Amino acid sequence: MRVLVLHGPNLNLLGTRQPEIYGNRTLADVNDVVAAAAADLGVDVTFAQHNGEGEILDALHAASSQYDGVVINPGAYAHYSYAIADALAAMEIPAIEVHLSNVAAREEFRRTSVTSAACTGTIGGFGATSYVLALHALTALCRRETQR
Ligand code: DQA
Repeated sequence: MRVLVLHGPNLNLLGTRQPEIYGNRTLADVNDVVAAAAADLGVDVTFAQHNGEGEILDALHAASSQYDGVVINPGAYAHYSYAIADALAAMEIPAIEVHLSNVAAREEFRRTSVTSAACTGTIGGFGATSYVLALHALTALCRRETQR
């Protein structure tokens, strides 16, 4: 099973970006945590991070032919990018949306996600563990251990 973990804008700044919200882990640290979980699950994981909306669209367009599922943290694009929502909806493979922070407990604009409806589910509020939980959910989904 092959999974793409796709990080959106500003997530390259993890470690120094608002650590009181996003924690002290760098993006490389987060990827290490996810890679360890993937190894336990027997999942082949690939990581990518893009700041640009177009690059994220291109990655999603290519994903269906390369992966069995996607874990995506769209960053702030979650709150307004109908283009990413459309690209997720067009995919032939499942995607799970993740957020490091609990967006429901933050500013009003973060309480809306236009991309989550195009995903199988959303997990947020657990830092790097959000990604690990999403990987578990995606694995169960792809191995048909859970209903879609
Ligand atoms: C985020 C939450 C978004 O609202 C924010 O714009 C981010 C990070 C998270 O992982 O908590 O960039 O997606």
